[in-house]
Amino acid sequence: MTFEQMRLACADFTQEMSEKLKAKMPNALRKAQGLDFIPYTVKDGAWQPGPFDGICWWTNGFWPGEMWAMYRMTGEEMYKDEAIRAEEMLDDAFRDYDHLHHDVGFMWLISSGAHFRMTGDDAARKRTQLAANLLAGRFNPLGFIRAWNGDCTGWAIIDCMMNLNLLYWASDYTGDPRFKRIAMTHADTAMKHFIRADGSSNHIVVFDPETMDVLDVPAGQGYAPGSSWSRGQAWALYGFALSYLHTGKQDYLDTACRVAETFIGQVKEDWIPRCDFCQPADDDLKDACAGAVAACGLLELARITENPSYFDAAVQMLRAMDASCADWSAAYPAILTNCTGSYHGNDHNIAMNYADFYFMEAILKLQGDPFLFW
Ligand code: GLY
Repeated sequence: MTFEQMRLACADFTQEMSEKLKAKMPNALRKAQGLDFIPYTVKDGAWQPGPFDGICWWTNGFWPGEMWAMYRMTGEEMYKDEAIRAEEMLDDAFRDYDHLHHDVGFMWLISSGAHFRMTGDDAARKRTQLAANLLAGRFNPLGFIRAWNGDCTGWAIIDCMMNLNLLYWASDYTGDPRFKRIAMTHADTAMKHFIRADGSSNHIVVFDPETMDVLDVPAGQGYAPGSSWSRGQAWALYGFALSYLHTGKQDYLDTACRVAETFIGQVKEDWIPRCDFCQPADDDLKDACAGAVAACGLLELARITENPSYFDAAVQMLRAMDASCADWSAAYPAILTNCTGSYHGNDHNIAMNYADFYFMEAILKLQGDPFLFW
C-alpha cells in the first residue's frame, strides 16, 4: 500500500485536526505577541519561558517551528511574522554562546533553517550555517558529538540523532562533505553503543574522551539505568529514519524499524507512551511528547517501507493524543498537556512547545506537505 493510499484513507481525521489547529493557534499566537521570551510551557493560562539557560534554552527553536508549520498549513502571514520575530530573538543565544550545546540543531534547523529553505532569506541562511559550524565543533574525532558543557567532555545522548539533520543540511547546502561525515560517524556510534539488542535505546553513554571506552550508562531523564525513557526511544526512531533519508544507509533504516517495532509493542495498549517503558506498572506518568515525535518517525517509515502498520500506529497515537491529552480551548495557549520533562524531575504533566510542534508536523505529513523540517 502506498503512503498516498494510507494518507487518503484517514483524510477525515487529518481534516478534523487541521481545523482544530486553525481554530486554536491564532489565540496561542496572540498570547505570545509582545512577550520578551519564547513560549515553552503554560502556567495559569499564560505562556512561560524555559526553566533555565535563558534564550539558549534548547527548545527555543520549536516556537518559530510551530509558526512555520502553521504558515505552511494556512499561508497566513501572521505566523511567518512571529516565526521571524522569534528567530531574531534567538540571535542573543549566539551572543551568549556559553549556554549553547549540541541542541543547536533543534534551535536553528526548524527556525532559521526552515525560513531559509522556504524563502531564501540570506540572514536566515547565515544563522543556520553558523549553528551547523557550532555543532560540528563539538565533534570528538574518536567518533561522537559531545552533548553538554562543563565537565561532560565524554557525554553523548540519543537526542542528538535529531541534531544531526542540521549537519546533513550543511553538507547538502555547501557541497562540503565534512558535516555529513561527522553526522554519520556519530550515528554509527549511536547504533553501536546506544541501541540495545531488544531494539530499545540508552539515553546517555559516557565515553572516555581520550580513548572512547564506555565509562557509564546513566539513566538520564528515564526511570533507571538500563530502562527505556520513551522520548529517548522516539528520538532514536525518528532520528535513524531521518539519517536514512539523508544518507541512504540501509543500517539506519533497519535500526529505525527495529526501534519502531519495540516502541509500538510498548504503546499499543492505549497508544499514549508512559514516560519510561520500564517504570513501575502502577505508575501512570505519561509523555505525550514522545508519542508526537514517534508519530512523525513512524509516518516517515510508512512512506519509506510502505508498511501500513507504521502508519496505523502513528495515527492511533495521534488519535489518542487528541482524545485524552489535548486542550483545544481558546483560553489555554498550548495543545498537548500530558508531557513530562524527566521521570525524576518536577516537570510532570505539563505542556511543552516541542510536543505541539511534532503534533503539527505529523498533521502536515498526513496532509501530504512535502516539506521536511529536518
Ligand atoms: N532533549 C531533551 C529532552 O528530550 O527532554
